[in-house]
Amino acid sequence: MSSDQPVGVFDSGVGGLSVFQRIRANLPYERLLYVADSGHAPYGNKPAGFIVQRSLAITEFLLEQGAKAVVAACNTATAAAIVPLRAHFDIPIIGIEPAVKPAVAMTRSGVVGILATGNTVRSDKFAHLLDQHGHRARVLVQPCPGLADCVEQGDLNGSRPRALLERYLMPLLSAGADTLVLGCTHYPFLTPLIQELMGPEVAILDPSPAVARHLRHRLAVGGLLADHNANGGERYFTSGELEPTAGVMARLLTESVNLEVLPERFRSAEALPASSLSRLQNDPVATSQSILA
Ligand code: DGL
Repeated sequence: MSSDQPVGVFDSGVGGLSVFQRIRANLPYERLLYVADSGHAPYGNKPAGFIVQRSLAITEFLLEQGAKAVVAACNTATAAAIVPLRAHFDIPIIGIEPAVKPAVAMTRSGVVGILATGNTVRSDKFAHLLDQHGHRARVLVQPCPGLADCVEQGDLNGSRPRALLERYLMPLLSAGADTLVLGCTHYPFLTPLIQELMGPEVAILDPSPAVARHLRHRLAVGGLLADHNANGGERYFTSGELEPTAGVMARLLTESVNLEVLPERFRSAEALPASSLSRLQNDPVATSQSILA
């Protein structure tokens, strides 16, 4: 493993770009690879076994591209797949989870709202997070079906995200929430609309700066930080259609994006490279996570 190898970042689609942007700002010398699994988005309502399969296939692709570390820039994929990913790949794998701990420490009203996908809020990992930190405030959990799709389609302030957010946010506002956790990496792109609906007093927490700091720390500890004279740079891949995905990504990043198609063998729903499959079949930890389901 050497420091000039790239860092891989993936999400169900374009949402992980909110994390990618932070990583790029914090680690400008790093070469970055971004995979948007747009062909299979959203993950928020898919079976856990499917999300595990996709996460393994994408990580295998990133390793094939020489990744020295991988960031699962997706709360839903982290909840479903971080354990099998770490069991099967011998590089740092960084995940993301809703910022419950900072939110309960920060609230003044004692009421915290959490927006996330259905799969994230139903996961054991999230239940554990609430068990650990949720008791220090009244924590209201709001699953948000359809919201990530709006971002995926580049609709950041149209009537659809507005109607969904009015429905999801109003109960939190009425209950007195003064701190809101964005528990899905798509949602930071809706921050202006969320702030408009919640009002200027409500604090909105996005955990991506903490993820970027954690990645920097892991790379530093492993002696893997890129040289400060390196040029950085990025490549973007999708399992979906090049258009409209490239257009949406360019809009979110406010720069043009040269999007490449993920190679066929990593693109299909069943894609799971033979090497991973044989490792999984011999691994009780992985099978207990229903990877083969
Ligand atoms: N961006 C993802 C997350 O952080 C999931 C969105 C989806 O695909 O449902 O949870």
